[in-house]
Amino acid sequence: MTPNRNSTGILVKSPGRINFIGEHIDYNGGHVLPAAIDLKVSLKIYKTENNFCTVSSKDGGTFSFDIQQPIKISPTHWENYVLGVVNGLKKKRPNRLSGFECSITSELPIGAGISSSAALECGVAKGLNHLFDLNLSDIELIEISRMAEHNFVGTKCGVMDQFAVTMGQNNKLLLLNCESLDYQLIDADFSPCKIVLLNSNVYHNLASSEYNNRREECEQALRIIQEHHPNFNFLADVPETIIESLKEKLLGKAYHRARYVSLENARTLKAASLIQEGKIESFGALMYQTHIGLSKNYEVSCPELDFLVGLTLDLPQVLGSRMMGGGFGGCTINLVKEDFVQNLMDIAEEEYKKEFGIELTPIMVETSNGVEIINS
Ligand code: GLA
Repeated sequence: MTPNRNSTGILVKSPGRINFIGEHIDYNGGHVLPAAIDLKVSLKIYKTENNFCTVSSKDGGTFSFDIQQPIKISPTHWENYVLGVVNGLKKKRPNRLSGFECSITSELPIGAGISSSAALECGVAKGLNHLFDLNLSDIELIEISRMAEHNFVGTKCGVMDQFAVTMGQNNKLLLLNCESLDYQLIDADFSPCKIVLLNSNVYHNLASSEYNNRREECEQALRIIQEHHPNFNFLADVPETIIESLKEKLLGKAYHRARYVSLENARTLKAASLIQEGKIESFGALMYQTHIGLSKNYEVSCPELDFLVGLTLDLPQVLGSRMMGGGFGGCTINLVKEDFVQNLMDIAEEEYKKEFGIELTPIMVETSNGVEIINS
């Protein structure tokens, strides 16, 4: 059935995100340095004349629901990104939504660690907010999108992805304080380098459960620290010296997790200054340190990502490389001298195929604006 369209629809363009540094820091109340990118999810949304909602994705199929009925979690994973947001909007603005038709196409690879999920959530949130005049602020839409991920998808994510996707700006990085949500825009000038993502095309299925485990391990570490230093509310704020002084008490993995978080938060602040001073080489060195921390101390990397970072170590034209996002697959992010970009892509594709028998997908990205509504 073709729904009746009683209004001019809108076209929403919602970007993915990259993160330069500050990984697994958002839910620990520290600083991150993401940007929105020029690969996007597009959503065409129309109001209909009834209470019926139909959502179709080129890759995922079509599903429908009645907006007047309670919104339930779907057994089909991707549908929950949409349903979770609709549920959040309904709760915040009761009786304001009616039927709509939404069709989705995407340039963002799924499971690549560039937040196709946040792009979808924030695109739906901002699109429906606009179409139904809900008058919710960007911060409210970010929170609704984040809670969709917690309550409908089951990943207890931090705020970085939804924030970057919504608030990103062309040619800018966001130095975001995830505790206060204050942020500073930093020029995305990495000359003479370009940003290259190497998509490993693997996504190990422990990603979501291990993500939630890391979050719990950090909360546990913080509780132990608070017994001795009750003034700290977030793990990222705890200095390394205090963590060292409590080494014997931080049992199991707690010490390694806490130390990584403290050092990574400090690295992120340093990185932002280095980028502003044009010291790209020193920034690149910090990216390598982050990767070692994520791989050895935080234990969220995997052989494929370690291999991709490792092969850049002998290439002086690559200034920095590390795994990006939640981990256990997805992309590495690389700062590469412009005239070496094609060489890196060729070398990485060949070596990766030889090692794992898997095709690599190199992707060049630029920064871009956050979610935009384009009236059609
Ligand atoms: C995922 C989460 C983010 C963040 C990163 C790791 O992308 O959605 O909130 O925690 O992992 O930095």
